[in-house]
Amino acid sequence: MSAAPGDQYAPREIDKYEAIYGRDFVSPGGAACARECIARLALRPGDRVLDVGSGLGGSALLMAREFGARVDGMDLSAEMVARARERCRQQHLEDRVRFTRGDCLDLAASRVYHAVYSRDVFLHIEDKARLFRLLREVLVPGGRLLFTDYCCGEEAPSDDFAAYVAERGYHLLPLARYVECLREAGFVAVEGEDWTARFIDISRRELDALPAAGLGADEQEDLRRGWQGKIVRAERGEQRWGLLTARTEEAGA
Ligand SMILES: C[S@@+](CC[C@H](N)C(=O)[O-])C[C@H]1O[C@@H](n2cnc3c(N)ncnc32)[C@H](O)[C@@H]1O
Repeated sequence: MSAAPGDQYAPREIDKYEAIYGRDFVSPGGAACARECIARLALRPGDRVLDVGSGLGGSALLMAREFGARVDGMDLSAEMVARARERCRQQHLEDRVRFTRGDCLDLAASRVYHAVYSRDVFLHIEDKARLFRLLREVLVPGGRLLFTDYCCGEEAPSDDFAAYVAERGYHLLPLARYVECLREAGFVAVEGEDWTARFIDISRRELDALPAAGLGADEQEDLRRGWQGKIVRAERGEQRWGLLTARTEEAGA
């Protein structure tokens, strides 16, 4: 098992994240950004998708509702899975979306998924080589992988950034290293896009909307400090955000 990400996803913390990211989401840009990422997968109705670290289920439910996909969401956190299941029931999507508790480092080879999708989860995983080998083995030939994740710059981190990463227990890579890791794991057509400018823009907008999020003063102040810190580190080029896409080789290639 991977180490659980500590108290970061305790119930009250989840509430706070959802207040700033938007209903059903715990990742930058909420539903709008998810919709844009999912569109890149060019899903066909009936395609099977694995959402790794599905959180509150926002992306998985959106893929089923708007793109006709059949989605398995998996997450290490029992609390996230319970909440995602409840939202799935509320939206009457149980026939197309299933949420299970699990560690992505325990995935078994299946070659059944047309796409693997993940948003801001792999920062929690130290053994990226193993992770990508496992993800390749759940995809059909020609299956697509898309994920966003926090990344770091190429330079040595400042004390401030090193302390932030250590406190969170994150395992961040520079974007170029992520691309190499995916190729080393056997993925092809690997591409990495630096979305740091977008991250700054999204974070600023989330910060501006914070007063309307319905949180108490302490919670608001906590998030405000956190978001300002991310923006400053991203403007310095230390904290980065990447979109990675790749696919498995076609059958017979
Ligand atoms: C930042 S949240 C993102 C949630 C969701 N992807 C979203 O966009 O709203 C990260 C999620 O990864 C999950 N996670 C962390 N380590 C994991 C692991 N080893 N296997 C599966 N999920 C994991 C956490 O429980 C959490 O729900």
